[in-house]
Amino acid sequence: MDRLRIEGQHILRGEVPLSGSKNAALPILISALLCKGKTVFHRVPNLSDIETTCQLLKILGCHVEWAHSTQTCHVDATHLNSIEAPYDLVRTMRASILVLAPLLARHGEAKVSLPGGCAIGTRPVDYHIQVLEALGATFDLEGGYVHGKIKGAFRPAEYTFPFPSVGATETALMAAATANGKSLFKNVAREPEIRALGNFLISLGAKIKGLGSPEIQVQGIPMANLNTKPAAHTIIPDRIEAATYWLAGLITKGSVTTEIAAEDVQSVLDALHLAGAKISHLGNGKIEVSYTGKINPVSVRTEPFPGFPTDVQAQWMALMTQANGAATIAETIFENRFMHVPELQRLGAHLKIRGNRVDVSGVTPLQGATVMATDLRASASLVIAALAAKGETNIRRIYHLDRGYEDLCGKLRLLGAHIIREPESSQ
Ligand code: EPU
Repeated sequence: MDRLRIEGQHILRGEVPLSGSKNAALPILISALLCKGKTVFHRVPNLSDIETTCQLLKILGCHVEWAHSTQTCHVDATHLNSIEAPYDLVRTMRASILVLAPLLARHGEAKVSLPGGCAIGTRPVDYHIQVLEALGATFDLEGGYVHGKIKGAFRPAEYTFPFPSVGATETALMAAATANGKSLFKNVAREPEIRALGNFLISLGAKIKGLGSPEIQVQGIPMANLNTKPAAHTIIPDRIEAATYWLAGLITKGSVTTEIAAEDVQSVLDALHLAGAKISHLGNGKIEVSYTGKINPVSVRTEPFPGFPTDVQAQWMALMTQANGAATIAETIFENRFMHVPELQRLGAHLKIRGNRVDVSGVTPLQGATVMATDLRASASLVIAALAAKGETNIRRIYHLDRGYEDLCGKLRLLGAHIIREPESSQ
């Protein structure tokens, strides 16, 4: 297992290239199962979650060729030969539940291991099941597996989500894209990754209206007519990666530029502006975030898009340890997403958990220490804090970072960070 060694207090400056979005790539690669043919994906990030997705597609019968050097992934789903997503894969990547809809559309049957809880919460899959039931599927629970069946094709339906779940909205879109008629979904997720999946399904032939709004209409087309010619798709840049590097730059009193659509990260840019950062739109979609001499305390509350993203909550907490005063961070999406708190405290942060809120008092001088990564975004917050800490920080269990940040070390070094990755056993 590898660890990161970071020597803090070096200013980050420059431009960082963004990888393709993990959370857009996962559902879109999985939706290739709907295509009885070949699809090529561009800007596919080199991440362990993508590797897991490719393994899953292969187990289901796809031929997959992923070239890391060109960030290109070819998926040929002409011949599928399995209906089952096994426990060993699903437990490492919860997004595997997304195969339910395309497998039901292709085979009329699907078996997917129940993911179980994870480090950030219980994360049930009931909305996925409910929306597929509304579209005509039936389900049993057998030996830890959800076993779904459907007679013929999905039928069009109207369904209102109890909460705008990203994954369940993706399930609904994939299923309804093959339904014989028009479906209407209300209170859907509005994240840019939903828009990206919708656009890919449109390119396959589905008619989808309302992407990015709380209501989506899907006019499905029969499987036989979906994607009659080879499809191609380019994954959108990773907005969470962009936010992570901006915060990393700001905490070191530096300046970081990335190329990303402002509307995909507006809530983060608004919070950064309130925190005193200078936001410069440089043209060509490039946005520079620079330190201006102070970091103001800014309280945030995570919300579904367009609100402040839960995937930036941990990183924001790290930044607020260096703000000039007290801020409160409220987490409303996941019930247990404060695993980074005790680790940030080991670096000297003054944090107090009160239910789903954390009070952060700044400015706190941080001091390097050995800390443990617990989940993807928690790990990113430790990296950000370590960049501001005096002395050296060792971050262990960094395989969490490999799930969602392509070449984190290389990109941070490009910006001027003193960071190395090495096997845990070396001194
Ligand atoms: N929920 C249910 N039932 C369901 C589905 C969701 O109760 O059937 C609850 C969840 O337990 C959670 C809330 O609804 O409390 C939101 O979950 P959502 O379904 O929106 O999340 P997800 O699809 O499982 C995706 C991202 C997460 C990101 C969330 C929220 C992917 C692969 N994952 O998860 O990304 O935090 O949306 O934006 O797209 C990450 O990248 O670090 C990450 C965790």
